[in-house]
Amino acid sequence: MAKQPSFTCTSCGASHTKWSGQCDACGTWNSIVEEAPLSAGPSKKSLGNVRGKQVPLSDLSTKDDPPARTVSGVAELDRVLGGGLVEASAILVGGDPGIGKSTLLLQAAARFARGGMDVIYVTGEEAAEQIRLRAARLGLENSPVRLAAETNLRDILTTLDAEQPKLVVIDSIQTMWADNVDSAPGSVSQVRAASHELISFAKRRGTSVILVGHVTKEGQLAGPRVVEHMVDTVLYFEGERGHQFRILRAVKNRYGPSDEIGVFEMTGRGLAEVTNPSALFLADRDRPAPGSVVFAGIEGTRPMLTEIQALVAPSPHSQARRTVVGLDSQRLATILAVLESRCGIPFAGLDVYLNVAGGMRVSEPAADLAVAAALLSAREDTALPSDTVVFGEISLSGALRPVTQAENRLKEASKLGFASAIGPEQKKQARVPGMTLRTMTDLVSFVQEMFGTD
Ligand code: TYD
Ligand code: MG
Repeated sequence: MAKQPSFTCTSCGASHTKWSGQCDACGTWNSIVEEAPLSAGPSKKSLGNVRGKQVPLSDLSTKDDPPARTVSGVAELDRVLGGGLVEASAILVGGDPGIGKSTLLLQAAARFARGGMDVIYVTGEEAAEQIRLRAARLGLENSPVRLAAETNLRDILTTLDAEQPKLVVIDSIQTMWADNVDSAPGSVSQVRAASHELISFAKRRGTSVILVGHVTKEGQLAGPRVVEHMVDTVLYFEGERGHQFRILRAVKNRYGPSDEIGVFEMTGRGLAEVTNPSALFLADRDRPAPGSVVFAGIEGTRPMLTEIQALVAPSPHSQARRTVVGLDSQRLATILAVLESRCGIPFAGLDVYLNVAGGMRVSEPAADLAVAAALLSAREDTALPSDTVVFGEISLSGALRPVTQAENRLKEASKLGFASAIGPEQKKQARVPGMTLRTMTDLVSFVQEMFGTD
């Protein structure tokens, strides 16, 4: 029987029997490529009547020991991992080229190795010499990390099998190739096969494996999303160009919270931990400035203050501009609509620019009220008191909805020298000494109190 050509979407990994311009699974255009089949074996055969062995069944109340964890000593990394590296776990670290993935993982590998762990760093992108140069720059040349510059998966697995390390870093998964799959490294079937082999090796041998993955322009991991499903933990390393800080964000974690972040700063000697990110993300705030509002947010388990900035100006164009950096533009559209229809404040004919200072990304709905406050403050050219933080979710009716962890938000604000806060009414009102909290039930009363009748 002739081999069936199969077509795969490079964006979502869905398989198709024929080529088409748009993937009907994820809707991406021009993402379908022809792939050699993963296996040449018969595909139509049923399992037949050969019996397997019966698997033992357990119940939900059986107590297992919590997974063994090793802390690296890099607190920001350990936190994102959920309290340290879990034995025999598979971790994917994604990020744009040049963001600092190799730097982060070399530093982490060195820390683990210094703590007595047997660590192998496999690079398929750079020569061993380049890694050594980087290690020297980071002051890590004496760390007992073992190094290999190799892309052949069979050779790598043979080496790992003989050496039995506790942690292996693969930089990057897109450069690895398995010789049983006849397509180029980086293609969907190669990435899938190499990840599968490495992850199943890790599970069998009790080795933890960290895979580095590149991210496409659209912000997705290059190659199939299936790698994200195969691993236990997916971390994204992100940052804005022109800013020194980097954020390691957990987007999936079978062993810990999945919305945790770690903050680093790229220095001349590698990545340094940032233990107080709120101070970093608050720009100079000596004078109250119209259009600038401090949002008391929560990232994962950690409170974090960020400054939301808005600029509103008459538009010279027939269609007004809406430019958003660091926030969801749909969210801005919703807030503008609520301001217009519930509070009667139109933004038609006005250009709106919205920005989170420092290049931070905010995705919490609790930022709504701070966004609305920044927009109004810019539109009215009236600054909010500079010692005030704002939080609260706005519903389509214009009501303010309660948020989680109000008390932690207030504590962080108080720690950074803020004296008052504006937020929604909560069932259990949070109280923090030294902070006055003004609660409001809806956006209309907020507008009236802060900006007079309008
Ligand atoms: P790298 O870790 O190679 O990125 P990735 O593996 O994600 O592609 O980091 C490359 C960038 O980091 C490069 O632009 C130089 C910068 N850098 C520093 O600023 N300081 C340092 O100590 C190091 C090692 C790199
Ligand atoms: Mg790299």
